Amino acid sequence: MKHKMPESFLWGGAVAAHQLEGAYREDSRGLSTSDVMTAGSSKVPRKITDGVEEGYYYPNHGGIDFYHRYKEDIDLFKEMGFKCFRTSISWSRIFPDGDETEPNEAGLAFYDRLFDELKKNGMEPVVTLSHFEIPYHLVKAYGGFRNRKLIDFFLRFCETVFTRYKDKVKYWMLFNEINNQTDVARPIYAFTNSGILYEEGENREQTMWQAVHYELVAGARAVKMGHEINPNFQIGCMMAWVPIYPATCNPQDMMAQTETMHERFIFTDVYARGHYPAYARTMWEKKGIDIQMEPGDEEALKEGCVDYIGISYYMSAVVDHDVSEDRNGRGFPGSVENPYLSYSDWGWAIDPEGLRYSLCQLYERYEKPIFIAENGFGAYDKLLEEPGDYVVEDDYRIAYLREHIKAVEKAVLLDGVNVMGYTVWGCIDVVSFTTGELSKRYGFIYVDRDDEGNGSLERSQKKSFYWYRNVIATNGEEL
Ligand code: BG6
Repeated sequence: MKHKMPESFLWGGAVAAHQLEGAYREDSRGLSTSDVMTAGSSKVPRKITDGVEEGYYYPNHGGIDFYHRYKEDIDLFKEMGFKCFRTSISWSRIFPDGDETEPNEAGLAFYDRLFDELKKNGMEPVVTLSHFEIPYHLVKAYGGFRNRKLIDFFLRFCETVFTRYKDKVKYWMLFNEINNQTDVARPIYAFTNSGILYEEGENREQTMWQAVHYELVAGARAVKMGHEINPNFQIGCMMAWVPIYPATCNPQDMMAQTETMHERFIFTDVYARGHYPAYARTMWEKKGIDIQMEPGDEEALKEGCVDYIGISYYMSAVVDHDVSEDRNGRGFPGSVENPYLSYSDWGWAIDPEGLRYSLCQLYERYEKPIFIAENGFGAYDKLLEEPGDYVVEDDYRIAYLREHIKAVEKAVLLDGVNVMGYTVWGCIDVVSFTTGELSKRYGFIYVDRDDEGNGSLERSQKKSFYWYRNVIATNGEEL
């Protein structure tokens, strides 16, 4: 197979504001939901505290100090040849409490400096509007996205940043991995996706789907508004795409797969087609869920279809119709292990073929371009005792990425899928979202910081840095 990707292909890396910026109270930034999440580990879940409490370590407060070191980091991204860089805007830098009418100029100025620096170095910024954080005040005073008022606050934030950066940013993404919250057994997702803290005994699914509706309306209205501000904007959704396989060819497993996939497709169906699919209504009816919609909501969904589908892809999952519990921890009943795949230290199935399958599935369903906004391999890296050009020999990361990029190339070159770009998650080591560890590393660039916040923060290249540099230089030909 000829491996050459289209010249316009956006190779790059991805991060999120709260996982790397640090400087959590600097320049009048308000407290964000990510600031009240303690450090955890693969064994100990992160805790959501009631504000910032004494005696806990909050890894996102300091991140990797990108707020002060972004120039140095962008130099390294440039050395790798990045064509684009995906990050998010921290809402609470722009509206510290979220419900003000006037934005915080110092916060806006930071992103001006950041986007200018990226442009100067030949990188296209790809900007997520809400990546697992909202101003904490919106949680305390309004209950997060359980409250319809959040739509207006979000739109005010969008209008502010769309207008301010209209000549600097072309690619936008709405809510990061909006579908994570369907896993209602893990309340952390309700908090990070929607700023919702479940109350004792409440019907979580009812609350979740109502919040999802508000976010879908907010997203659609943002798309429409963005196109009015700059018709060249490309605004996409962002989904955690975990394709589900049937455990066997038993037709009952196949139907279990179809039903489980509904919880993913419901989002992309609305985003791409502008209306709720029939199975959404029957599913809500079956579960006794009553979604409050206001006049104009359905119109808004219709008028605000996304330009492209953004996804993260890390793993696939399997469903067995005969199993009722979530055995493999994938957030749905019937999830079981895949005997054909190996797993990372955090139990994530390694499945490059699943990425090609997903790209085909999504493209055939919607015929919209796809942006692979995240893919990567979290691992415990070991520093070399005698470092040379690089400090970590991360062949495992190279192997993972190589196979996934091959899968992307097959989708593009053999299956005809329109893939706009590919940004490797955590291109520089950042705070892990699920565990709050720094030792769950994804980067091409090693950051000297540990899980307790010790370390010089010095940056150094890993072996994968040079490998990815060559992938980009050869436009995906040499893997
Ligand atoms: C995605 C998120 O879920 O996966 C990122 O968009 C996150 O924010 C990434 O960091 C990897 O997950 P983790 O938990 O290994 O950091």
